[in-house]
Amino acid sequence: MNYCIVGLQWGDEGKGKVVDIIAEHSDIVVRYNGGANAGHTVVVGDNSFALHLLPSGVVRPDTTCVITNAVVVDPDTLIKEIETLARRNITLTDRLFISENAHMVLDYHKKEDQLREESLGKNKIGTTIRGIGPCCADKVGRSYAVRMADLTDLEKLRAKLQSIAEYKNKIFAALYDAEPISADDIFEKCKFYADKLLPFITDTTEFLHKSITAGKSILFEGAQGTLLDIDHGTFPYVTSSNASSLGMPAGAGVPAKMVDKFLGVVKAYTTRVGAGPFPTEQDNEIGQYIRDKGNEYGTTTGRPRRCGWFDAVAVSYAATIGAIDSIAMMHLDTLAGLKEIKVCRAYKINGQQASFFPANTAKLSRATALYETVPGWEEDITEVNDFHDLPPNAQNYIMLLEELTGRPITIIGVGPKRKQTIFR
Ligand code: GDP
Ligand code: IMO
Ligand code: MG
Repeated sequence: MNYCIVGLQWGDEGKGKVVDIIAEHSDIVVRYNGGANAGHTVVVGDNSFALHLLPSGVVRPDTTCVITNAVVVDPDTLIKEIETLARRNITLTDRLFISENAHMVLDYHKKEDQLREESLGKNKIGTTIRGIGPCCADKVGRSYAVRMADLTDLEKLRAKLQSIAEYKNKIFAALYDAEPISADDIFEKCKFYADKLLPFITDTTEFLHKSITAGKSILFEGAQGTLLDIDHGTFPYVTSSNASSLGMPAGAGVPAKMVDKFLGVVKAYTTRVGAGPFPTEQDNEIGQYIRDKGNEYGTTTGRPRRCGWFDAVAVSYAATIGAIDSIAMMHLDTLAGLKEIKVCRAYKINGQQASFFPANTAKLSRATALYETVPGWEEDITEVNDFHDLPPNAQNYIMLLEELTGRPITIIGVGPKRKQTIFR
């Protein structure tokens, strides 16, 4: 069975936890988009792992991990992640494969991300400053891009970095009055990256297709969430990759028809980090209740996440474009203690009712959420492991979301740990 697991909101849905659980039955786990902007938390017993580039299957020692072509790899972060895991007795020798075609995020990308955000002032996107936008722009622009394969020919790379530094320094000086970057410094770091990462670099497309032929089961792990998709999300308040499941085939070099099941991950409410429209946002005591109870602070940047009610219009859209078969809903426990819970079932835009999500920021900014209000529950549910043992109002809430999204909710999270999961 091959799975694709993808976020259906604005990221941080709890994909790390769900991937870790499903990975028990997978031979290979594949990261196919995004970069170190992602922060995926996996909790095993009393140990918590915050992963940025390595697939969330990595904590299972027999799982093969693959980072494919469309991931923009920050070698510094990746090397740190590999070494941190090694100190915790999780080793990656012979079970990590990185695409030779993946682009590298280098220091000047992070610098450019920061300078651009600062210069935008109140119009900034609120990026993670991990250099994602500038690296993806260089990828699409082609002439000044660096890929993992470039580490195999250091003399050629030295010359390339020289021309990149000349080009970037003109931009940094003209637009930002910033200090120049040094090609020599970047080159020295690249030699270090080559030393550490070359053993892992390979043709991952070939590896994956051979694995499929050999009958291996593969889990494709999406980063971010569908509403942050560069083409189908709330542009320009999105990330720079195809973060919906539509990004999986191009991102991994494997056709979507090889996937047996597309599993979408949501929270029982909605969160968002960074700027952009958010029709169900609760910038009030309800949002704060959710933030405190759900510990809604970014895994990568530590920023407080914006919190709001579940948006069935947004999730239905994400499930539709993503061919989602079923949903895993995390953080049901976080809603306990609220007297009433609201769910957005439609929008009102310019006086008209709309049920199809407009991935057009101007339209979405004018959307008012139309809510269905249901009673909440008081009981702590963090120890419940059977759907029928949930308080009736919690069961009804799940069934309402199934009806509004048109998808079965087959996995329910009642806490961060593996065992705090209900299967239906
Ligand atoms: P991801 O980016 O989608 O992998 O999600 P993050 O790891 O950034 O954020 C999800 C957070 O919620 C992490 O701290 C998880 O440990 C935690 N989490 C996951 N599922 C649940 C759940 O069902 N209940 C609670 N309370 N926490 C959860
Ligand atoms: P995971 O995989 C939540 C958001 C940023 C910002 C926008 C653009 O953990 O769900 P970028 O640095 O990508 O240029 O920032 O996208 N963003 C995320 N929000 N979870 C993520 O990843 C995110 N990755 C990027 O906050 O609004
Ligand atoms: Mg996250």
